[in-house]
Amino acid sequence: MQEETREGKIGIFDSGIGGVTVLREIIKILPNEKYIYYSDSKNNPYGDKSKEKIIERCEEIFRFLLERKCKAVVIACNTASAVAAGYLREKYKDVPIIAIEPAYKMVHDYSYDKETLVMATKGTIESEKFNLLYRKYDNHKTTLLECVGLADVIEEGNEDKIKNYLEKNIGEYKGKVENVVLGCTHYPLVQKEIGQVLGGNVRFFNGASRLTVHLKDVLEENNLLSERQKQGKIEFIDSLGKREKEERFYKFLEEEKL
Ligand code: DGL
Repeated sequence: MQEETREGKIGIFDSGIGGVTVLREIIKILPNEKYIYYSDSKNNPYGDKSKEKIIERCEEIFRFLLERKCKAVVIACNTASAVAAGYLREKYKDVPIIAIEPAYKMVHDYSYDKETLVMATKGTIESEKFNLLYRKYDNHKTTLLECVGLADVIEEGNEDKIKNYLEKNIGEYKGKVENVVLGCTHYPLVQKEIGQVLGGNVRFFNGASRLTVHLKDVLEENNLLSERQKQGKIEFIDSLGKREKEERFYKFLEEEKL
C-alpha cells in the first residue's frame, strides 16, 4: 500500500495555465514524479471572484485530483492559496497540501532597503493571509498593486494586449522600483515584458522556488518521494478541454528546459 502511495501522482492546479511557472520549477528538482495539472480556465479569473466561489471551485478540483490518486496537491495559484488553502488543510488532513504565496519574505531577506512593487490579483492583495505576511515583513518602501485583468490577458496570450496592459498599468513605476514581487503565477510568463516596461535592473521575486523546496521536504517527511528512476509523465487537463491551452502549456514547459 505504501509503495502504491509513493508512486501516486502529484496534483497541481491553477485557474488556468499560469501554474506552469510553478510546475517547471518543481520538475527541475523532482523530475521523476508523475504529475497531473488541472487548469480551470472555465472559471478564470479567480482574482476577482468571491471567497466562497473560490473555495467551492478549489474543493471540487481538489476532490477530482484525489479521485485520480494524487498523493499530494500543489495549489499553484496565489489567489486560491490565500483564500482556500486553510480551509482545505483543515478539512482534508490526510493529504499534504502545498500552497504558493507571494515571495515578499524573500524581499525582506535579500533586498530589504529597496523600493518594492508587489503585483498580484485583487483577491490575493485583499486576503487576510497576504496581509499577515505583508505586515510581518513590511519594508515600508512597498507599493501593493492589484493587477485586475492581467492574468486574463496573459491567459489569452495576445502579445499586443499584454504590452498595452503593462504600459498603461505599470508604466508609472518605470525607474522608481528595484524589487518586483510577481505575486500571481501567471506573471512570470511575462517577466521579460514587465522588465522592459519598468526599465533598468529590476530584481524579480517569485514564490515557485521556495514552494519547490517545501514540497520536496514534505514528501520526504511523509515518506512519499517516488523511487522511480525515469522521468515521470505530466498529464494536462483543462476544464474547457481546449486543445490550444494544452499546446501552450507544453510549450511553456519545454521552453524552460532549453
Ligand atoms: N494564477 C493565479 C494567481 O496566482 C490567479 C489568476 C486569476 O485567475 O486571477 O493568483
